[in-house]
Amino acid sequence: MKTKSFKGMKCRRMGNSGLWVSEIGLGTWKWGDPSYDGSRVGDHQGFDILDRALELGIIHWDTANSYNIASGNSERLLGRYFACRPSSARDQVVLATKITNSAREEHEMEREFSPNERGSSRKYIMQETERCLDRLQTDRIDILYIHSPSIMEDGSWETPLEETYGALNDLISLGMVNYIAVSNRTAKQLEEEIAALAGVATNTSRRIIAVQNWYNLAERNKVTTEGKDRLEGDEKAFLDFVARKNIGLIPFFPLASGLLTGRYRRDSIDTSGRIVTDGDMWKEMFLTDRNFDLIEGLDTIAKRKGCSIAQLAIAWLLSHEVVSSVIAGVTKLEQLEDNAKASSVELMESDMREIDELTV
Ligand SMILES: NC(=O)c1ccc[n+]([C@@H]2O[C@H](COP(=O)([O-])OP(=O)(O)OC[C@H]3O[C@@H](n4cnc5c(N)ncnc54)[C@H](OP(=O)(O)O)[C@@H]3O)[C@@H](O)[C@H]2O)c1
Repeated sequence: MKTKSFKGMKCRRMGNSGLWVSEIGLGTWKWGDPSYDGSRVGDHQGFDILDRALELGIIHWDTANSYNIASGNSERLLGRYFACRPSSARDQVVLATKITNSAREEHEMEREFSPNERGSSRKYIMQETERCLDRLQTDRIDILYIHSPSIMEDGSWETPLEETYGALNDLISLGMVNYIAVSNRTAKQLEEEIAALAGVATNTSRRIIAVQNWYNLAERNKVTTEGKDRLEGDEKAFLDFVARKNIGLIPFFPLASGLLTGRYRRDSIDTSGRIVTDGDMWKEMFLTDRNFDLIEGLDTIAKRKGCSIAQLAIAWLLSHEVVSSVIAGVTKLEQLEDNAKASSVELMESDMREIDELTV
């Protein structure tokens, strides 16, 4: 695989586009305004993490219009950061955001949103992208994701795909967006969308360059987004499909919300971590006997390799060529520094076999 190095960080191409992204990226779902939206990172801490990310060559930053609790505050934080740093900071960063949901202003939390304030129609896509640019204080989004597929009860697309992809194609022509990507997609949905874009694109180089799906060591089948609880598809078939289409895979929840760091074990649980603080749903999902056993097994492998469990989990994702970048969410500087080192952890075939035995 071709890689480039930036400040010692390896970069990969996103799918077969010309866009280089750092193997270690940065997720900002839990970023925003802690006094208002319950986020875990505000300006002070966030700016330190972003400065350090640039020093470490971590140049792929991921947000969404709806982070955090649909407030747009993660985008606003990034916007304030770019506004007070030299323009070279913005130029270096590959800035990704997502739309489909409504982003609410503080005074609007109780307002009922119209069907045109979410989804994938031309009206929504055009108006919301402008609002993303305002919040991010930038004149261009590098990667614009359609966050979730808008599907009707009968399984059909809510908006004709030609309309959605016509609008996205126009955003590129208008210079507001550089690349298009999607998230939470099945292979069938992706196939239909690739065809729709090919039908409307004014330039054949306009492609879907990435798919961002749920994928980590603890929950491997989720990547297919198929069936009940996203657990019914075939992991390998999905990865092969994405590779065949020359699309980059960006795993979300790469650390299973922090489970894959060793902070939650059978006999010691970090009660300050978000799996505990974010409510019962997350505890029930992650704090299970199966996962405690998994962490013990991964701990043994990580100790032998001389790395942290988080680094092992990220290195495993990066061992798949189809994965372009791992955007672990970070809420502390030490976490960023720990994750950054995963780019140099090499997994042997024997390590992969041992991990398979624990996780398949
Ligand atoms: N496309 C989508 O639908 C979608 C959905 C979800 C997320 N995302 C994107 O994917 C990104 C990553 O997902 P995520 O942030 O939800 O989950 P994640 O990356 O699986 O887990 C992040 C959490 O793990 C903990 N952590 C990270 N590095 C650590 C380290 N080295 N040591 C110890 N703990 C560490 C932190 O927990 P504490 O905060 O508890 O310290 C952090 O909040 C998001 O930020 C967002 O950009 C996309």
